Amino acid sequence: MENTNKAIHYLQYINGMYKRILDKIDVGVHAVDETGKTIIYNKKMMQMESMDIQDVINKNLLDVFMFKDDQSSTLVKALQDGNETSNVKQTYFNNKGHEITTINNTIPIYHDDKLQGAVEIAKDVTKLERLLKENLNNKGTRFTFDNIIGKSQTILDVIEGAKRATRTSSYVLIVGETGTGKELFAQSIHNGSNRLSAPFISQNCAALPDNLIESLLFGTKRGAFTGAVDTIGLFEQANGGTLLLDEINSLNLNLQAKLLRVLQEKTIRRVGDTKDTPIDVRVIANMNEDPIDAIANNRLRKDLYYRLGVVTIFIPPLRERIEDIPILIEHFIEKYNERFNMNVMRLSEEVRQSFFEYDWHGNVRELEHIIEAAMNIMMDEEVIRYNHLPYHYRSKMQIKERMIPLSTVDTFITENSDAAVPLKDQMELFEKSYIKYVLNKNNFNISRSANLLGLSRQSLQYRMKKLKIDTKNRFEDA
Ligand SMILES: Nc1ncnc2c1ncn2[C@@H]1O[C@H](COP(=O)(O)OP(=O)(O)OP(=O)(O)O)[C@@H](O)[C@H]1O
Ligand SMILES: [Mg+2]
Repeated sequence: MENTNKAIHYLQYINGMYKRILDKIDVGVHAVDETGKTIIYNKKMMQMESMDIQDVINKNLLDVFMFKDDQSSTLVKALQDGNETSNVKQTYFNNKGHEITTINNTIPIYHDDKLQGAVEIAKDVTKLERLLKENLNNKGTRFTFDNIIGKSQTILDVIEGAKRATRTSSYVLIVGETGTGKELFAQSIHNGSNRLSAPFISQNCAALPDNLIESLLFGTKRGAFTGAVDTIGLFEQANGGTLLLDEINSLNLNLQAKLLRVLQEKTIRRVGDTKDTPIDVRVIANMNEDPIDAIANNRLRKDLYYRLGVVTIFIPPLRERIEDIPILIEHFIEKYNERFNMNVMRLSEEVRQSFFEYDWHGNVRELEHIIEAAMNIMMDEEVIRYNHLPYHYRSKMQIKERMIPLSTVDTFITENSDAAVPLKDQMELFEKSYIKYVLNKNNFNISRSANLLGLSRQSLQYRMKKLKIDTKNRFEDA
């Protein structure tokens, strides 16, 4: 009796272990008994098929999933003919009608020569297929150099440099903050080059997990071990044309090494393949941080930078070329007049002035959005006034206005400091004094002060402790 108990205990333990392993692995596992009823269905399979376990377990799979007329379930087939199949692509629908595509290895299970069921080990390709399709649809480019608006010497020099890059097929690295027009420049270079009628394909490297981006870029080869089908990657799709790799500094460093090899050898190898295919693709890479910083912070390989940065285009932020603001304003007003069928003429002097002072962290995109937002709430007025501007703009400007002016700070420093205090200590002193001042003004109400300081309660309390701001001395002068 005790032995039987021990054995049962052991079986339960092993069973639990198997279940945990099944739920941790990155492939879907779905097993049915000889009648087609589901007996094992792991977590990954649930994710791939967007199903809950109780919708599937103990039910016949043909009652749960729908198969197209010309395709039968590989699991049912394994039960019928008793044969093992590998790497069969299958497209079917879950109980909500969502289409699912998987690549399956399907294995009939025998016990004492008798068929007892079948198990399917599946890889998800729904996402890869969708991404490849999306990219096929987005071959077109819209922008040329004529669409780049600006008259500051800085932007004119950048345009000049970019135009020079149209004459060759050298790789290009475009660096600029968000919204400065990197995509615009990349498309203009493609459209100004002799690759114009070949594909322009753009892919953001930050948006996808590593294994997916690798398959997407280089394609996959149908193979017994990888569980993949044949897919044509973006490099092959862009053959003869241009491939824009957006946010290259988000690409995993191993993939950066693979990319470097492709750039040097001008051949690609599909994931799971042993054969190299020559390609002729001009790569343009974009990034929104200084490459030197990216290298220092291990987000960009130095060797890749040297290879890519043969031509490097730095687009300066809008706040460093405010001469471009008036012509951009004019351009966007015209654009939205046309689109909204309006007749807006200009900005009020107050708005105009504030545009020159604003920080424009979102650069040209932010400027465009603000004009669009303002024109959305105007009726038949001809002038964009301050109260037409979106709330976030106005509140940022208000904060700016209330800050201690830089000139006051400058004067204070010049008159009172011999420049022998380390920055960190000086900042700490200012921080302490300012926090005390805000707390005092708000009667030491932590929530309200934190809110005004743009900090969380916790973070304010942490700082008070660190800077030894004593709540007991609350009424002392700040
Ligand atoms: N010089 C410019 N003239 C006209 N439009 C511009 C200019 N620069 C940017 N834009 C417009 O601003 C928007 C953002 O540009 P784009 O997408 O090229 O920026 P980006 O640098 O790629 O930004 P992100 O880093 O966020 O991807 C687009 O609508 C683009 O048309
Ligand atoms: Mg972009």
